[in-house]
Amino acid sequence: MNATKIVSGSAGIAEAVALLASGELVAFPTETVFGLGADARDAGAVAKIYQAKGRPSTNPLIVHVADVSGAKRWVEGWSEVAQKLAERFWPGPLTLVLPRKRSGGGNLAPEVSAGLSTVAIRVPRHPVALSLLRAFGGPIAAPSANRSGFVSPTAAAHVYAELAGRIPLILDNETGMGGESGGGGDCSVGLESTVLDISRIGNGGGGNAIILRPGGITREMIEEVIGSVEVFQGHLVEHQAAASPGMLERHYAPRTPAYRFKPAQWPELQAQAGTKKWERVIVLSWDPHVALPTPHETLLMPEAAEDYARQLYAALRQADALGQQVPGSSIWVLLPDKHHGLWAAVMDRLKRATMKI
Ligand code: TXA
Ligand code: MG
Repeated sequence: MNATKIVSGSAGIAEAVALLASGELVAFPTETVFGLGADARDAGAVAKIYQAKGRPSTNPLIVHVADVSGAKRWVEGWSEVAQKLAERFWPGPLTLVLPRKRSGGGNLAPEVSAGLSTVAIRVPRHPVALSLLRAFGGPIAAPSANRSGFVSPTAAAHVYAELAGRIPLILDNETGMGGESGGGGDCSVGLESTVLDISRIGNGGGGNAIILRPGGITREMIEEVIGSVEVFQGHLVEHQAAASPGMLERHYAPRTPAYRFKPAQWPELQAQAGTKKWERVIVLSWDPHVALPTPHETLLMPEAAEDYARQLYAALRQADALGQQVPGSSIWVLLPDKHHGLWAAVMDRLKRATMKI
């Protein structure tokens, strides 16, 4: 593979469209994280996604479309619940899992949904993602544009760091606004979309809505529109058949050993910092009182959920980079003391990125 180019603007979109049409991969920004896109109708192109990411073929992909009518083409029996949710939250960070179109109009590559009878679909709200989808005029399958199991990218530089040489093109934000590498790039949400399974809800009612992955559209927001929903609590083991996929226990993880702790554990831990086991620690904290002096490092996170979420992946990358500089380093993440709204998604990612201390 030749060098990976980073492009932007309308010329960048045109280049991306041409590559997608010829069966190649293109990374592009969304309001959640950067996606690694391929034409969802092209089995060969979709196979390249799994290959570039090193992703197990049992883990299905999200299909991105420009609007509701683009979504309906790939869905069997678009329900009233789907319509309500789409009207309220699209374009935006909500992925709906729905029955996949059986035959006729449905020519998505089967690999997109890893052989399942359902399809995960969303309309992103990032202007570059929407422009790309409109210009391409077809469905784009896209997981997060990182190597499987590691931290998702919220800036073009993050994608480049992991996938340079493996993909031909990274589409960046046109203006570069908010694109400071430390600030979460141009992904305003910063965490992957909420995945909501409504595939068992028909028009006659019955069947539950289940949040498979918490994200920017919170449980509370969804319940305001469709009433009570369940939250999937389990997790899958890698390579396990994907009957209710998407929840690998260890995911989003930095390379430096990373641990999580609760505020109440701090006094005890603080006393252990600097001992042989914890020679050098990088603390990811939201509390200025939970910090360590050199040779340790402290990265202070914002206290508001939206800001914390937006910056989390860039901070994990920064902590990892600091950890990689000195052998024997560890990352300690202070867990938030709140669980509602967007904190549920933050907590979910932190638990997958870290081990219990
Ligand atoms: O915000 C996002 O959703 C980003 C951007 C690029 O749109 N994409 C993303 O894709 O996070 P990925 O592949 O990293 O996560 C897709 C999730 C996985 O947890 C997968 O198992 C689940 O969606 N998923 C996909 N198809 C599914 C299906 N048919 N049934 C259940 N879960 C599904
Ligand atoms: Mg991912």
